[in-house]
Amino acid sequence: MKAPWDRQGIDKLIGTMTLKEKVGQLTMLSGELVQTGPTSAPVTSAAIQNGEVGSLLNLVGPERIRDAQRHAVEGSRLGIPLFFSLDVLYGLRTMFPIPLGESSAFDPALWEATARVAAEECAVEGIDLTFAPMIDIARDPRWGRTLEGPGEDPLVGQRVARAKVRGYQMADLAGPTAIAATAKHFAGYGAVLAGREYASVDMSERLLHEVYLPPFQAAVEAGVACLMPAFIDLNGTPMSIHVPLLRRLVRERWGFDGVIVSDWSSIAELLLHGVAGKPEAAALALNASVDIDMMGKGAYVDGIPEALDRGLVTMATVDEAVRRVLLLKLRLGLFDDPYRRCGSPEAVAAVAAQPARRALAREAARKSIVLLTNTEGMLPLGKSLRSLAVIGPFGQIVGGNSEPDATQRVAELVDRCKEAFPEAAIAVAAGSEVELPIAGGLEAARQAAQPSDVIVLCLGERVDMAGEASSRAHPGIPQAQEELARAILDTGKPVVVLLFSGRPLILPDWLVAGAKAILAVWHPGSEGAGAIADVLSGAHNPSGRLSMSWPADIGQIPIFFAERPTGRPRLENEHFSSKYLDIPNDPRFAFGHGLSYTGFLLTNPRATKWTLAPGEATEILIDVRNTGTMAGEHTLFQFIHDVASSITRPSLELVDFTKLALAPGEMKTVRFPLSTDQLRFLGPDLEPVLEPGAFQVFVGPGADPAQLQMLELKVSPAAGVA
Ligand code: BGC
Repeated sequence: MKAPWDRQGIDKLIGTMTLKEKVGQLTMLSGELVQTGPTSAPVTSAAIQNGEVGSLLNLVGPERIRDAQRHAVEGSRLGIPLFFSLDVLYGLRTMFPIPLGESSAFDPALWEATARVAAEECAVEGIDLTFAPMIDIARDPRWGRTLEGPGEDPLVGQRVARAKVRGYQMADLAGPTAIAATAKHFAGYGAVLAGREYASVDMSERLLHEVYLPPFQAAVEAGVACLMPAFIDLNGTPMSIHVPLLRRLVRERWGFDGVIVSDWSSIAELLLHGVAGKPEAAALALNASVDIDMMGKGAYVDGIPEALDRGLVTMATVDEAVRRVLLLKLRLGLFDDPYRRCGSPEAVAAVAAQPARRALAREAARKSIVLLTNTEGMLPLGKSLRSLAVIGPFGQIVGGNSEPDATQRVAELVDRCKEAFPEAAIAVAAGSEVELPIAGGLEAARQAAQPSDVIVLCLGERVDMAGEASSRAHPGIPQAQEELARAILDTGKPVVVLLFSGRPLILPDWLVAGAKAILAVWHPGSEGAGAIADVLSGAHNPSGRLSMSWPADIGQIPIFFAERPTGRPRLENEHFSSKYLDIPNDPRFAFGHGLSYTGFLLTNPRATKWTLAPGEATEILIDVRNTGTMAGEHTLFQFIHDVASSITRPSLELVDFTKLALAPGEMKTVRFPLSTDQLRFLGPDLEPVLEPGAFQVFVGPGADPAQLQMLELKVSPAAGVA
């Protein structure tokens, strides 16, 4: 068969396809080498040769992929190539920090660079498409998939989306190291009821449009190739069949002409949501423009023929979906060379051997680490430290889908600490398992602690305690580790806590008060141990900032900075005010929180123009001085508040952030451009409006109001609907 190298060729090809072959193109099955959903039978070569499958997921290794592709290209009637897909959320071979950790770097160039490396590694190992980036906004740390995403704020989500799509796809999907990206999980998944995985979501249209949709729109604008609807039911309609959002908004309004791939079995699962049967489910999903049925349990395979017979869906709609799938294959260059991403063992080894990727993994981990507390300048530890104990079940270095065993992990952190503190004697004790005590563990830990000048206490949750299907009703440190922490604090030795987690953790007061310093290190990736040692020793001055508020108490969830005002704000001595009787309102650590080993002073906030007509812009300037003795990076956030508006606005809305590096004593002026476009909001009918009047602009190191500097601008009355 002649390769259909253009759109006309594809239309011709569709004209020659049987219904079975068409449905095959809409079917994605698993190679089952990685388990990311309920167990199923792996795809067979016969199915590929019969044209029953158009794409595979979870098949790993260029040789296996080449083999499967050969069955499609040489063994099937039409010779249409498969495409191969995989979840590569934080790296394939080089592991970067988990996305929530990486978002703490507030560094779009870094976000893009790590996606680029992941794409290079995929592109030599046969992977054409990744199910990333995950850009679900999350405001509930009980939900384990906080691990995969950008945190609580839509602006951060948008910037992550753009950077990741650029990094994976570059300008041309057929480029030698480009792969297709998937924006997932569309939309609102982060707001599952009570933080419980796969539960339904009820949210206002306003919240959906203001907070949960913008990252997806940014991904579409950046040219993302693929989009995945979430498993959830949103306001009474399962996302996989959500015509208003998928067809009307994404396809028609945003102009998305890429592929929509269902989540794992989510079309078949429609029957559990209350859809009558497979034909109905298939028709509803296709009519909503879901092109590919992933691991469908026959939803499309069995459902489409009957749905066509019964007139529930038209052949034109089926063809539309097939066309989009074939166009994706065309854009990926697979019709030109179906083996283009299957590198030789030498090519794979050559990519892996590039030292730059290890350096990038170390940089990403360093930049993701957030210094939460640092009492009396406990950190950095002096290079001439004499003794150190590394205690706790984590000295963790995350290896993506698989974790090395606990002893190896501690060993690696210990090795890096030996390099960082060459004069220190280092004692090691696990003390407890992650969730269970170890017999004699506390005693061994005390003994390791006793002779040591400093204890590095490695606590947290395993990587598989967050992520998919890993909601936790108590997103804190498991009890066995809390007991260990108490025992170690009771020794009276100075304790530095490293927190390994895929979500904000709720910490007990005694731990926060008793530890001399606490670092959120997330799951930091292949080079995490070195990055941690760099931060402990001061070889790297920490600059990470939280992209999600850390609650002080479970009762505060959901918690996020962009709340709308109440008429009765919290007043200490006023009973009838918005507060809890038993806990504070404020999070333990606010969005943007993160300390440095140096100090930064912000002075002289000013604007280049104080009154703006619609379409005009100003610049907000502020001077930043490094007041300490160490070079450091500072992140500044710019928020706005529309003082009087037709729809009430959050007390703080993030409109920009930037990072700057300052030498000791150095002063720089930060300039935030601010246009009236950024002052618009969704009006009563959810269309953007710009309303005249006063706008407060806040600049500071995070969302803690006490640290923000405010100035007030005016939008002139000429403004109306923009
Ligand atoms: C997850 C998706 C993932 C898919 C394929 C599903 O269970 O929800 O995020 O891309 O599996 O692995």
